[in-house]
Amino acid sequence: MFELNNLLRENIKNLTPYSSARDEYTGEASVFLDANENAFGSPLETAYNRYPDPLQYRVKMKLSEIKGVPARNIFLGNGSDEAIDILFRSFCNPGVDNVIIVPPTYGMYQVSANINDVEARKVLLTEEYQLDLDGIAEAIDKNTKLIFVCSPNNPTGNSINRDDIETLLANFNGLVIIDEAYINYSRQKTFIQELTEYSNLVVLQTLSKAWGLAGLRVGMAFASEEIIEVMNKVKPPYNMNEASQQLALQALNNVSLVNLWIKETLEERDKLVLNLKEFDFVLDIYPSDANFILVKTTNAKAIYDFLVKHGIIIRDRSKVELCEGCLRITIGTPDENKTLIETLQQYK
Ligand SMILES: Cc1ncc(COP(=O)(O)O)c(C=O)c1O
Repeated sequence: MFELNNLLRENIKNLTPYSSARDEYTGEASVFLDANENAFGSPLETAYNRYPDPLQYRVKMKLSEIKGVPARNIFLGNGSDEAIDILFRSFCNPGVDNVIIVPPTYGMYQVSANINDVEARKVLLTEEYQLDLDGIAEAIDKNTKLIFVCSPNNPTGNSINRDDIETLLANFNGLVIIDEAYINYSRQKTFIQELTEYSNLVVLQTLSKAWGLAGLRVGMAFASEEIIEVMNKVKPPYNMNEASQQLALQALNNVSLVNLWIKETLEERDKLVLNLKEFDFVLDIYPSDANFILVKTTNAKAIYDFLVKHGIIIRDRSKVELCEGCLRITIGTPDENKTLIETLQQYK
């Protein structure tokens, strides 16, 4: 049986979180001499002299409207990378507990595990880039706290079979973290709507990809109220700055432009795939549900170096397990994609 209390680190269970100045009163106030801010203002056009809302209420209300999830089920982080780190810090005892990752996948799960001195047990995806459920079952022991599944997966681009993820959710007594950073580009449904079904589900999303706000660092975790409470307790009090909160709110009101870009990105992806297939150094292009494609080539390193020399940077993933010979290419603007193809035409 999944029991959140059994999963939590003892020190986190007993933690008294930092109490910020504005948590300590109720009612209306107009003079704030409580937080040692500069009461005169900021040397900028916009004033940022006051600490931001620690729980980002207004952004969450807007997200709640868009995602159809109550604000109390939303955690906001300084990028979803912060949410990943907070999950480690909340649930994994350094040097004792372990997590399961399923390479090839997003690199931060391993890095966060290393930073937190937590063993990351690797269970490779199958040749079809799907979950090896038997392998995962074998790797789980009593100290396994988290399983990370990225869908659509980075760097392979495909979505992970929904039934397999549900099998994990139904059978694993730790948390299943589904990283949906690329969900806006996917034909698959989000898992957010399953939160009421599975109390061990955490869905990660971000404003860094389709929403075009990577520079603002706004990541989201959707989970049960109990899990969100733990994450809020562990996070730095003011983890999302005021400028990011204000600009995220503004951007979230412009969903139509984002949808237009998603449509265009998908059209460009199809076009790029067709064009790349023409090259004889391209051996395979994997089906993608994301804003990038994984391309198997005859000589990844040489192609990568050639493109760098021409000022075009892609990602060489050829050293990654199950990605031998592979390059990962993000879908750019029509002009950028055209430049890429024209440059590759000069590659011998
Ligand atoms: C799968 C995946 N998750 C998370 C992130 C990071 O997201 P954020 O910018 O919100 O930290 C990335 C960025 O490349 C990613 O590929």
